[in-house]
Amino acid sequence: MNYELRESVDPTMWSAPEIAPSVLSADFGYLMDDIKAIEGDCTFLHLDVMDGHYVPNMSIGLPVIKSIRKHTDMIFDTHLMIDNPDEYIAAFADAGSDYITFHVECSKDPLRTIELIKAQGKKAGMSIHPDTPIETVVPYLKELDLFLVMSVRPGFGGQKFMPEALERLKFIRTQLDSINSKALLSVDGGVINGNASDIYNAGATLFVTGSTVFCAPDKSKAVKDLKACALS
Ligand code: DX5
Ligand code: ZN
Repeated sequence: MNYELRESVDPTMWSAPEIAPSVLSADFGYLMDDIKAIEGDCTFLHLDVMDGHYVPNMSIGLPVIKSIRKHTDMIFDTHLMIDNPDEYIAAFADAGSDYITFHVECSKDPLRTIELIKAQGKKAGMSIHPDTPIETVVPYLKELDLFLVMSVRPGFGGQKFMPEALERLKFIRTQLDSINSKALLSVDGGVINGNASDIYNAGATLFVTGSTVFCAPDKSKAVKDLKACALS
């Protein structure tokens, strides 16, 4: 898929559930090898950006996204776990992100942040920390192309899925349907074969998963298995 096509994608063209592997669990010494292993099975690649302030960890940033952009046409689903997202949106757009997701807790004016993302010609996503009341985001849903429910505390891969995320997904699914929104409903953290069906039934359409895919010996098979489990 070339850049122009990525720009004009219609989210309804994908058949849910889509899997967005998170490179956080990839082997950064062999990053493109790991990405190539799942490229044929997935449309989205999830890129976790951490600043050591909003979350107690640091990860990848602009140079890595820019570099891998040259080697794959996957849709880049950039997840900003950073304070002051407004200051960095243009840079993450330029680096090659297609979707840019910020945390509602990090923005002083979420509508303005959404506008900044759209002004760059990118799809706007919002995420929410598990401790933040889910109702907080309702006023913004109609403006969004993606909503990401965190099912772990943001900052680290390999954590256990928080079951209360299911109710939060159902709440957002109901809200999106009630306004006829075609936004992707994404879930991030602790997604494994054993909970995929519950997550799918709760209304998620885009499954972010790091360790389930990138820590598996056969990464392509791990994607296929996870999709099958979601639909089972
Ligand atoms: C956590 C990140 C996730 C993480 C998920 O803050 O946002 O994307 O990579 O990793 P797993 O699937 O291992 O829980
Ligand atoms: Zn993430």
